[in-house]
Amino acid sequence: MAIRNILKDEDPTLRKVCRPVTEFNERLWQLLDDMAETMHKAEGVGLAGPQVGILRRVVVMDVGDGVIEAINPEIVSESGKQEGPEGCLSFPGKWGTVCRPNKVKMKAQDRHGKWYYLTGEELLARCMCHEIDHLNGIVFLDRVKGGVETE
Ligand code: NI
Repeated sequence: MAIRNILKDEDPTLRKVCRPVTEFNERLWQLLDDMAETMHKAEGVGLAGPQVGILRRVVVMDVGDGVIEAINPEIVSESGKQEGPEGCLSFPGKWGTVCRPNKVKMKAQDRHGKWYYLTGEELLARCMCHEIDHLNGIVFLDRVKGGVETE
């Protein structure tokens, strides 16, 4: 495993729409392992492909219950609302209030290409929405209401 460089701030890669993953091979597994290690080292709860310069639909998350790998993830349903502070490893020191659904059901593939469904609430729901946004070139700053705070 290896730590990958996290792209930051105005890097144009963070604004690109990612392509689906089509090959579930060792190269993907290496990427997933590296992304999980990079996320943990940076003390984040999620990391998406473009943040490490890979324009593919790959996400890792860990809100404290272990690593979740989501490949080609899609939100299939959502309910409720939550409003709270959000940040991003690509925008260190920046925070803002973002409104997200409180409960989200996601469909994704695992590292072997098998489809699964996962329902998340609160922090996990927020994380799923934030990371899937990254795959579409959207960053949390685009969704902040009431101004961005700097640490
Ligand atoms: Ni982020």
